[in-house]
Amino acid sequence: EIPSLYKVLKNDFLVGAAVNPMTLNSQKEFIVKHFNSLTSENNMKFENLQPEEGNFTFDHADDLVAFAKHNEMNVRGHTLVWHNQTPDWVFDNKNGGITDRQTLLERMKNHIVTVMERYKGQINSWDVVNEAIADNGTQLLRDSKWKQIIGDDFIDKAFEFAHMADPGAELFYNDYNESDPEKREKIYTMTKGLIERGVPIHGIGLQAHWNLSNPSLDHIREAIERYASLGLKLHITEMDVSVFSFEDKRTDLKAPTAEMAAEQTQRYKNLFELLREYSDVISSVTFWGVADNYTWLDDFPVRGRKNWPLLFDRDLKPKQSFWEVVDL
Ligand code: XIL
Repeated sequence: EIPSLYKVLKNDFLVGAAVNPMTLNSQKEFIVKHFNSLTSENNMKFENLQPEEGNFTFDHADDLVAFAKHNEMNVRGHTLVWHNQTPDWVFDNKNGGITDRQTLLERMKNHIVTVMERYKGQINSWDVVNEAIADNGTQLLRDSKWKQIIGDDFIDKAFEFAHMADPGAELFYNDYNESDPEKREKIYTMTKGLIERGVPIHGIGLQAHWNLSNPSLDHIREAIERYASLGLKLHITEMDVSVFSFEDKRTDLKAPTAEMAAEQTQRYKNLFELLREYSDVISSVTFWGVADNYTWLDDFPVRGRKNWPLLFDRDLKPKQSFWEVVDL
């Protein structure tokens, strides 16, 4: 008898999965059994929701929200303001140059308000701003078009518009390399600034794209404690534990080696022991996929390379990692 993942963990946190139309439609029962929260992998991103100015395409997002409602699942909205997967028209003016601050703020507001009002009361939390912090160097913010055109306060504005649109939604800042001490301090500093200026932010999303050795358990623990010290909620938003073949052609590959699988099992055990220690501040853990039959890491960062980062194998069977997590 295979236990339900989310039921085993229900006293600790919600357990979510990122889905796309293909994985959702082909694995409905399985998803409902193991997860009580959903994130759209791509269909709530700017380029998908508003490919052309004023032309909103909600079909896939509507399907996900309706499915979640029907099955009494939580929904995390992902994402409103990001430097990726945002169409060029957002930043351009009609003459092919870049637009001005006022116009971009209006476009940002219109997008946020239109999307969030549509799902008011149905999307519990939103990743309002995604990946705005610079990875390296002393610069705080990434040099994105949002920052170049609006200025550093684009983050404040995004959260203010979001809170206006749906005052009941929990608003998150979400980022990767979140446990790296240098980047952690930048995320902390930026977020602390938001709080001090009275900007409505309720949580930090730790993407948790992790691998077998990085980040260390100590660094993850320090990041959780540092962010939690701001009094914010924490969500693990895009968890996966990357293990991949060194071959570059996925057709050669059937499964991870026994050694890789064993290392991943130990890693998942350690990670969930740690996350459960902090279940008073971590209210949700979402995996960036459902099972190893499909993961974005199959193509990233090396095109065509096969990865097996999740708790279920490509036949939707629980891996040893799953049994460690549910038996903790
Ligand atoms: C990824 C999707 O999984 C891919 O399908 C897409 O091609 C690129 O984006 N950080 C994020 C997510 O916040 O939105 C990204 O999702 C993965 C990294």
